[in-house]
Amino acid sequence: MSKKIIIAIDGFSSCGKSTMAKALAKKLNYNFIDTGAMYRAITLYFIRNNVHLDNETSVATALENIHLHFEFNPLTEKSDIVLNDEHVEQYIREMTIAQKVSEVAAIKAVRVFAVKQQQQMGKKKGIVMDGRDIGTVVFPHAELKIFMTADIAVRVKRRFMEMEGQGQHINLEDVMHNLQMRDYIDSNREESPLRQAEDARVLDNSDMTQEEQLKLAMKWVEETLANVYSDQK
Ligand code: DC
Repeated sequence: MSKKIIIAIDGFSSCGKSTMAKALAKKLNYNFIDTGAMYRAITLYFIRNNVHLDNETSVATALENIHLHFEFNPLTEKSDIVLNDEHVEQYIREMTIAQKVSEVAAIKAVRVFAVKQQQQMGKKKGIVMDGRDIGTVVFPHAELKIFMTADIAVRVKRRFMEMEGQGQHINLEDVMHNLQMRDYIDSNREESPLRQAEDARVLDNSDMTQEEQLKLAMKWVEETLANVYSDQK
């Protein structure tokens, strides 16, 4: 039996969850799933098709017409989200999506739709998944749960640099406002709000390099593997 586990990474917006998840997946030869991309792609579909978020029937019909899957991109070494056969990575990172996604992700039907697919993807283990409810709702029995956090000033700077890098020019105040708004909605919604799972390990990376974070997370992975498979030689 191969020694594989599920690694659930949760935390606030722009804490470096995806960077960490991607690095861990590469090191362990696991699949990496960015669940935020799923909620962003659903939001893109809703905007394009003018779906009214408070109309349950419209939301349900729209979800029936949404087909999501991931395809590995060798250039970025991560899986890109595909919405109904269209590669939409470049569109889902835009500010128009960031401004609406938390509202969309708070809808129960949307969460049921996304969580079902996420649970399916983790059936064979060997997966690193990042999001807001992975250790609490999607995989409450994940062998390793990491809750990432960082100072808001550090997160704003990171998001700002990321957006500049993508050619999106936006001011720091707007980035700060968007992160604070999303953190608030994500943490206070009725349906599976962002929470730190009781058995999660907390990683505050405000003053850590990516190498230091990866080293610490790998130490946790090794401890977890040793514990989970301690009865097997
Ligand atoms: O990780 P991200 O910033 O790309 O996520 C976009 C939004 O999606 C975030 O504001 C909250 C929502 N989300 C969620 O509710 N549950 C998840 N598992 C992942 C993301």
